[in-house]
Amino acid sequence: MKKIEAVIRPERLDHVKGALEEMGCLGMTVTEVRGRGSQGGIERQWRGRKYRVDLLPKIKLCIVIEEKQVKAVVDTILESAYTGEIGDGKIFISSVEQVIRVRTKEEEGSHNE
Ligand SMILES: Nc1ncnc2c1ncn2[C@@H]1O[C@H](COP(=O)(O)OP(=O)(O)OP(=O)(O)O)[C@@H](O)[C@H]1O
Ligand SMILES: [Mg+2]
Repeated sequence: MKKIEAVIRPERLDHVKGALEEMGCLGMTVTEVRGRGSQGGIERQWRGRKYRVDLLPKIKLCIVIEEKQVKAVVDTILESAYTGEIGDGKIFISSVEQVIRVRTKEEEGSHNE
């Protein structure tokens, strides 16, 4: 199993979630986070004064899926989270050793490995 962690713009969440649902990707954890990328936040002005907001509100999606679904899910996020402006987000992919459903005590994904 693989874990996809995608940091996206909060205003894109509904669209990204809808696109994932359409392709059959349902299980996910959504967290409100704050973060910064390579620009180190943004500069804002208030009453003529400039100040830096270095940690911006973002949404982090965590999706654990079978390896063969990774490309389709990543492509869907890339497309649905995209605006073309700086700060569109980032996707991190890593390996997950085990997934166990509490209700049935069954291990997920192990039958096709
Ligand atoms: N290296 C990183 N490690 C962990 N989280 C990161 C990293 N880079 C970005 N993030 C997370 O992703 C969010 C969005 O990053 P962002 O899209 O600004 O990345 P970027 O590399 O600066 O790209 P861009 O130039 O398009 O802004 C950040 O607010 C932060 O939460
Ligand atoms: Mg950035």
